[in-house]
Amino acid sequence: MTDLTAADATTASAKPATKAARPHFSSGPCAKPPGWSPEKLATEVLGRSHRSKLGKARLQCAIDLTREILGVPDTHRIGIVPASDTGAVEMAMWSMLGQRPVTTLAWESFGEGWVTDAVKQLKIEPIVKKAGYGEIVDLAEVDQSHDVIFTWNGTTSGVRVPNGDWIRDDREGLTFADATSAVFAMELPWDKLDVTTFSWQKVMGGEGGHGVLILGPRAVERLESYTPAWPLPKIFRMTKSGKLIEGIFKGETINTPSMLAVEDYIFALEWAKSVGGLNGLIARSTANATALGRIVEERDWLDHLPADPAIRSNTSVCLKLVTDADSDAQAAAIKKMAALLEAEDAAYDIAGYRDAPPGLRIWCGATVDTADIETLGPWLDWAWEQAKPA
Ligand SMILES: Cc1ncc(COP(=O)(O)O)c(C=O)c1O
Repeated sequence: MTDLTAADATTASAKPATKAARPHFSSGPCAKPPGWSPEKLATEVLGRSHRSKLGKARLQCAIDLTREILGVPDTHRIGIVPASDTGAVEMAMWSMLGQRPVTTLAWESFGEGWVTDAVKQLKIEPIVKKAGYGEIVDLAEVDQSHDVIFTWNGTTSGVRVPNGDWIRDDREGLTFADATSAVFAMELPWDKLDVTTFSWQKVMGGEGGHGVLILGPRAVERLESYTPAWPLPKIFRMTKSGKLIEGIFKGETINTPSMLAVEDYIFALEWAKSVGGLNGLIARSTANATALGRIVEERDWLDHLPADPAIRSNTSVCLKLVTDADSDAQAAAIKKMAALLEAEDAAYDIAGYRDAPPGLRIWCGATVDTADIETLGPWLDWAWEQAKPA
């Protein structure tokens, strides 16, 4: 970090001339893919049954493109399920947990949510390992005879699991990865992930409402050999008479999906192919995070929330203020900065998550253009000059 000179400070108070073409930096729903417009969506299926030949074909198309782009092996099933990422995580937890001991790992609000599910709702007395905002737990200490639930990318604290090397090939338990802000932006080791979940409104800039559940063979084996002690609502049920309902993984959804959201997701997947598939998406996200990193580096009042670069997210980049002001004053400054930037159409939705320490959170996923990230430096200075605690 370098100190701002007096000349820089004067410049900082002037309104910058250049604005992002698309000031959409929300961490979910995230920016639509470049070039998206509603007129470009296929609409033939709208008004038709999702169980018609066409409806099923479009759902299968979304599944097939997901598999192709993410490189999900044929050993793993991909299903479209209700209630977004939360629905996918909870249907897996409710359907599979309780057979063996459970460890839940949490490093931010959403991981905490899964801890609450396991402790207070399912009451399965898990081992709970938590890290503060900006950190993760010691993964080497995780007992892999347990089922392990964790968040691959902590959206509200800007941390990510660096890789899957800590997951043993001969683990006895199942791994459950909430990967909603990681898929399409990071390499995921499918052979080490028994259950993976995400929703469409993150890296792909799709719409909320639907979850994707990816099951490895060991998860299917659990489903077919174990019945939990608690009741399962219809939208969580993946087996019938002890057998997996295979149709769920072929586009025969449990209940009615939004076919408009499905078409929107297919548009995003086709865009992803046009930018080079997974490698292209990762490269775009990394370029965005690198550009934002340069902006942070140049400012003495801004720093990354996660101190360790090895666990810093390249999607939900979380920044903290470097100031002696107390937490309330920082929260007020962030609120003011976010409002000023939104009013100028310079940056939307960049205040940190409500439960996280006060700070900025700027989405760097693939649908954001690097040129738009690069406009942010002078705008952040401009807003900070007006909002910083006295
Ligand atoms: C890590 C993580 N898990 C779960 C969720 C909840 O996702 P959804 O709203 O798709 O259920 C979010 C949303 O931001 C998230 O970031």
